[in-house]
Amino acid sequence: MSAPAAERESLGVFSPRRARLTARTLRTDRWWLSPLLTVVGLAAFVVYATVRSFVRSAYYVADYHYLTPFYSPCLSESCVPGSSHFGTPFPELPMWIPLAFLSLPFLLGFRLTCYYYRKAYYRSVWLSPPACAVAEPHTKYTGETRLPLIIQNSHRYFFYVAVIISVINTYDAIVAFHGKGGGFGFGLGNVILVVNVLLLWIYTVSCHSCRHVTGGRLKHFSKHPVRYWIWTRVSRLNTRHMQFAWITLGTLMLTDFYIMLVASDTISDLRFVG
Ligand code: FES
Repeated sequence: MSAPAAERESLGVFSPRRARLTARTLRTDRWWLSPLLTVVGLAAFVVYATVRSFVRSAYYVADYHYLTPFYSPCLSESCVPGSSHFGTPFPELPMWIPLAFLSLPFLLGFRLTCYYYRKAYYRSVWLSPPACAVAEPHTKYTGETRLPLIIQNSHRYFFYVAVIISVINTYDAIVAFHGKGGGFGFGLGNVILVVNVLLLWIYTVSCHSCRHVTGGRLKHFSKHPVRYWIWTRVSRLNTRHMQFAWITLGTLMLTDFYIMLVASDTISDLRFVG
């Protein structure tokens, strides 16, 4: 809710200590381009992922055991035969519940509370502020100290679940080395699944919470050489966390799209073995 006009005069960029400018910004470059591209990219992923998660078609290739990450783990009797790598402990689900209902909320929570994505959508969606030296429309700043933004502090817990889901995705990628007539097989779908899962791991371990888990709260690195070694590796990846955040959005969509094309018989998988 915006503050009353009189109060607004003394808040945020209108406070007495700030320079009195009538223009919202004096920047003359295209400062709006980056937030615009960000919001378009995020919206494209959200629309694609939402549609694909609910359609319940072309998500599993029975011949090669390819399962798209958007349906993993598939744990209900609504899943097509073979796609439930961990059994079907849940009964048939109504159409409004995605088949990966157990993992999707956590993956969503992991991405939403990610430090990089926060920066991205705070700037692009809430314009808070949209760019350096561009006044934001809000007059009050409460940070992440109250609902709903206080939930951002739960990121570390989403990180632990994301690790478990990455293990599940790894298992899915391994069981996909399956030939048409049984036994070992290997095709382009395997390359895509393995690259996707490797990048998901890199995104996950480059997380700021992972940095803290591996090297946080230590008084003396010299007394914990193994944790220190891991922390330095994680820190190196962490510098590219933003890139991995975007790359994995792309590889997730690409992996799902390829499996959708093969599962719907639109194209055939390029097979190297089996
Ligand atoms: Fe981005 Fe943890 S900070 S996933």
